Amino acid sequence: MTRFAGKRALVTGAGSGIGAAVARLLETEDAEVVAADITGTDVHLDVRDERQVAAVARDVDILVNVAGIGATATAPATPLAVWEDVFAVNARGTFLCCKHAIPAMIARGGGSIVNIASVAAIVGLRNRAAYCASKGAVVSLTRALAVDHVDDGIRVNAVCPGTVDSPWVRRLVEEAGESLEELTARQPLGRLGTPEEIAEAIAYLASDAASFVTGSVLVIDGGLTAA
Ligand SMILES: NC(=O)c1ccc[n+]([C@@H]2O[C@H](COP(=O)([O-])OP(=O)(O)OC[C@H]3O[C@@H](n4cnc5c(N)ncnc54)[C@H](O)[C@@H]3O)[C@@H](O)[C@H]2O)c1
Repeated sequence: MTRFAGKRALVTGAGSGIGAAVARLLETEDAEVVAADITGTDVHLDVRDERQVAAVARDVDILVNVAGIGATATAPATPLAVWEDVFAVNARGTFLCCKHAIPAMIARGGGSIVNIASVAAIVGLRNRAAYCASKGAVVSLTRALAVDHVDDGIRVNAVCPGTVDSPWVRRLVEEAGESLEELTARQPLGRLGTPEEIAEAIAYLASDAASFVTGSVLVIDGGLTAA
């Protein structure tokens, strides 16, 4: 398939996990992909830094905001610096990439943005206060952008993955002491998702097949939020 022939796509957080799977899939389908990350990619991009974002987020038809960090703590146990770090990457980073990509998309006649939120934006996940709040901001920003730029031919959607088997989740197990069995057990489908399954949904939203889809929040969670 060549859903993305002639399209230029920026994928942030492309050095690992879901972002790497998205970059691979879009490239397989003939997009010209700018895979950007603070580590593990040819293009270095720290999404917290407006100057770096302004330099990289130009001239794209598709923007996929995957870069994200977590924090494992209740609100009282969250240092302010950690709250600010989580918001700096997840909320500010997503905002900055959209802010700088949108004018170029308008000049190119339209575009598509997919923001990676989380089920943490839909339900309260235990011990993740800052993370839940930051992903809620991503969902609200997605809706605001969708209505602001509908006349510009820009569609803006979000995906909310459940627990996906990525280096992130392996770190939760190894460093934050979470149990892989418990993370798996809370998913009605009885397994973790894969980065490739999330990438498929992102590619759909980014593609012309989703031409009537904007401001949507697509939950891909093995039934977690349905239970
Ligand atoms: N894995 C899951 O279970 C899960 C579930 C829901 C949502 N998500 C979201 O999916 C996204 C990707 O997660 P993943 O599981 O692939 O994690 P991951 O840790 O494997 O990948 C995240 C990537 O973001 C990059 N990144 C971090 N800070 C950055 C910055 N300032 N600028 C640029 N890049 C930066 C990291 O270097 C890393 O390569 C995140 O936004 C995460 O919140 C993940």
